[in-house]
Amino acid sequence: MSKQPDLGAVNGSQPILQLRKVSKHFGAVSALTDIDLEVHAGEVVALVGDNGAGKSTLIKVLAGVHQPSSGSIEFAGREVTLDSPGKALELGIATVFQDLALCENLDVVANLFLGHELSPWQLDEVAMEVRAWTLLQELAARIPSVREPIASLSGGQRQTVAIARSLLLNPKIVMLDEPTAALGVAQTAEVLNLIERVRARGLGVIIISHNMEDVRAVADRIVVLRLGRNTGVFTPEASNQELVAAITGATENAVSRRIQRKAQSVQSEVHSS
Ligand SMILES: Nc1ncnc2c1ncn2[C@@H]1O[C@H](COP(=O)(O)OP(=O)(O)OP(=O)(O)O)[C@@H](O)[C@H]1O
Ligand SMILES: [Mg+2]
Repeated sequence: MSKQPDLGAVNGSQPILQLRKVSKHFGAVSALTDIDLEVHAGEVVALVGDNGAGKSTLIKVLAGVHQPSSGSIEFAGREVTLDSPGKALELGIATVFQDLALCENLDVVANLFLGHELSPWQLDEVAMEVRAWTLLQELAARIPSVREPIASLSGGQRQTVAIARSLLLNPKIVMLDEPTAALGVAQTAEVLNLIERVRARGLGVIIISHNMEDVRAVADRIVVLRLGRNTGVFTPEASNQELVAAITGATENAVSRRIQRKAQSVQSEVHSS
């Protein structure tokens, strides 16, 4: 925990979301133990950790899918119970799950408004199309046409539609589970740009990613989970070695040895020249 930033460092204000000692057990399995986490407005927090570290469980607790076994969650300074996905959404916590849950055969407009057609738009196709365009333009999203079916869009464009959809109800927090997994270089860059624009709108963003480059590119803070516990909070300037040590719990591993070897060979080059 060498780079534990000052908890109020991002801005002096109160966090939108604050978790205190949140634990989640599934029978005998402790998926999360005593997790403390805070997210401020206009901040991107990356959640990293190995498979089974508890990242998705944490997102699901915040999305109202799972109930915590103990601990407290405060939203905008008030303690809340997120006992259903509807409750989380209503409060302003939106989630883009890894599978995106888009309908392949429907167009972009229909997907954006899926489940929200009745109010306040009342299936008004024109109003929905205008709102869809406005939102996508605000996000500078590269979608060829809002009447294009999802099936004909690229992976990055689908992710864009899923993120845009999560913004429709004007949430305060958006959570993204592996938004750049399976995307190419250009599409990844596009999605990372989009995340920056979401942050610029003043939202708090929680992003899960296995890709340290992406995490460094976009995150203001990096929170590491290991076996359900928080093993470090870092700034994006943290070294790979520090992150890998927090993720694996070992200071000795292939990545740390490679970094050491590189450092040694650079040193010997300096000495021999
Ligand atoms: N519904 C469930 N019932 C029982 N155990 C579960 C359930 N969901 C998750 N777990 C367990 O909780 C732990 C954390 O799982 P989780 O899916 O949160 O990890 P993760 O960090 O998202 O991993 P990955 O990177 O593989 O997605 C694992 O040991 C997992 O087996
Ligand atoms: Mg997961």
